[in-house]
Amino acid sequence: MGKVSAAILAAGMGKRMRSALPKVLHQVCGQPMCSLVRQVLREAGIGHVVGVVSPRADAVRAALGPDTDFVVQPEPLGTGDAVRYALTHITNADHVVVLYGDTPLLRPETIQSLVRGHIEAGPAVTMLTAELDNPAGYGRVVRDPEGRLLEIVEQLQCTPQQALIREANVGIYCLDRAVLAKYIPLLEAHPPQSEYLFTDVVGLALRDGLDVRTVAADAAEVSGVNSRHQLAEAEAVLCRREIRRLMDSGVTVVDPATTYVDHGVAVGADTVIRPNSYLLRGTTVGSCCIIGPGAYLDGARLADGARVIFSTVEDSCVGPDCTVGPYAHLRPGTVLERDVKVGNFAEVKNSRLGAGTKVSHHSYVGDSDVGRDTNVGAGAVFVNYDGRDKHRTTVGERAFIGCNVNLVAPVRVGDSAYIAAGSTITDEVPPESLAIARQRQRIIVNWVRRRLNPAPDRSGEGSGHKDSGPGPAGS
Ligand code: UD1
Ligand code: CA
Repeated sequence: MGKVSAAILAAGMGKRMRSALPKVLHQVCGQPMCSLVRQVLREAGIGHVVGVVSPRADAVRAALGPDTDFVVQPEPLGTGDAVRYALTHITNADHVVVLYGDTPLLRPETIQSLVRGHIEAGPAVTMLTAELDNPAGYGRVVRDPEGRLLEIVEQLQCTPQQALIREANVGIYCLDRAVLAKYIPLLEAHPPQSEYLFTDVVGLALRDGLDVRTVAADAAEVSGVNSRHQLAEAEAVLCRREIRRLMDSGVTVVDPATTYVDHGVAVGADTVIRPNSYLLRGTTVGSCCIIGPGAYLDGARLADGARVIFSTVEDSCVGPDCTVGPYAHLRPGTVLERDVKVGNFAEVKNSRLGAGTKVSHHSYVGDSDVGRDTNVGAGAVFVNYDGRDKHRTTVGERAFIGCNVNLVAPVRVGDSAYIAAGSTITDEVPPESLAIARQRQRIIVNWVRRRLNPAPDRSGEGSGHKDSGPGPAGS
């Protein structure tokens, strides 16, 4: 069979993106493009992968992952130069897959069949080509009238005639290592930027009469991303592919056109995803959930039967049969156990809410541990920040936090304790007790009538009355 290594070229800047970020780090469905390509090689079972990176490209290294063998290309002198560096780390392979870091839609099966076909047919070089509707920017595949491959001509060197060719080099090759070793040193720099073009290896092999095989690939899969337009196109294609994967595994997606699913998101069977929903960054959803409309799940973990409607869940866990929303916000570090309800205009941050607990409306619950079957009334606020530090609040089981209560942390509320509406709690509330911390109500009888018809002023001191109540006197 022979040993196979791969080289991912990821040291270019990608000028056409007009970005400070290296092109291969631009994301498609939540993943840097080069991470997606690297993952394809993993799934295709290629054990040794060399990543060609520029100096100080820590983010590119991180995106390619620690199982990558890195080599630094000191200056971006072209794809041929990049492969020259890769080859210094590929010493005991028989065959080498060369590909670029900007083809986010590639699938592992395609790499597997490229390698298998190359080894079985035994040419010097196998390269993938595709018929593109718009081949601008690609190297064109030039053939003789019998269809035999003659050369690959880069866009810049194309004659007007050649520019009309729609068959393009997609930049995915499998070569014998010996072919690389022979021709890489023979590459010559091309003006104007003195670039070494990897495609010249193919040209040199053809010149020497070696067998170069082309394999037609699906254009939608192997297209490279060179511009922001192509980035958006790739995003749409990959997102559709992810949605189809979910549907194939038993998920209902009501409106694929307004559903956004990152690469690698997992969703259980019989979950329904309603329109305008986002499932991002490693989100996992159980079965029989209802997601959306309008759910924004970013690093969320939802157990079976959870429901999230018009709400945001970030880096939080939602237990079985919980309901979140409409219009709720779970911020990082939130854990809802089973059957919890977080209702409209409630925000929960870095808190654990026990089974059956309800935060139904207009509350802020931050930095807290709340026991099971506790009720947090409308407008209750866990006052966690003193202007300098954050503090935790602990609430027991079956407690009742009345409406508009402030729990000034750090503070504890015991099991089955009650807190009267409008209280500001600063001290521990023991279990099974009632805390009232507010002013007593006062009634000023006939206050309105007196204000409208003030008694004749005998003192000469103005219209103020001893019990004139709220509001500026005499207003
Ligand atoms: C290349 C091919 C072209 C093909 C197209 C397919 C060459 C000469 N041309 O052109 O025939 O149609 O891909 O998408 O190979 N890179 C480095 N170091 C460098 C330069 C580039 O690592 O010095 C990396 C880039 O990060 C990128 C990849 O190589 O991932 C391809 O570079 P890019 O500039 O996109 O090549 P194209 O002009 O698209
Ligand atoms: Ca490219």
